[in-house]
Amino acid sequence: MRPDYAAHLIELGAFVSRGHAGGRYRMQLFTNAVGKKAWQTGTHALPAGALFAAAHTEDGRPGPLLVMQKRAAGYDPGHGDWYYAVADGAARRVLRQGRLPDCAACHSMSPTDYVFLRGSSALQSR
Ligand code: HEC
Repeated sequence: MRPDYAAHLIELGAFVSRGHAGGRYRMQLFTNAVGKKAWQTGTHALPAGALFAAAHTEDGRPGPLLVMQKRAAGYDPGHGDWYYAVADGAARRVLRQGRLPDCAACHSMSPTDYVFLRGSSALQSR
């Protein structure tokens, strides 16, 4: 089922998350139009505005909503200029947001500009 907040987002896929909380959650991955283009082309430098939202569920119950958005150059130059946010499952309360170093530390290991884009065939064919 698609959460209310994702009504205007594009769904990219759903799978058991490998990165977050050791396989506890099923992740549904959403993006906006800018992110969808990067997903299709497999670009290594994502354009500002690209947004990804990872909705998690555990046994059908909502878990955290994790969001990242590429900001303009200079927002966080040492870490790819990504903004991160953690919200509750219904996206009513933002628990943490901004230049979150714990998110950036692990996402820096991704093959492409801090995003993993799991399931993107453009990236996998490289
Ligand atoms: C220990 C490593 C690790 C940490 C810490 C981590 N992530 Fe991730 N994240 C991943 C991996 C791996 C994926 C690819 C999907 C999966 O989980 O299998 C991912 C996917 C995502 C995605 C989907 C976009 C993409 O990169 O493909 C978002 C959004 C996201 N994470 C947000 C966050 C936020 C916000 C935080 C900090 C609260 C965070 N992550 C912390 C490893 C991590």
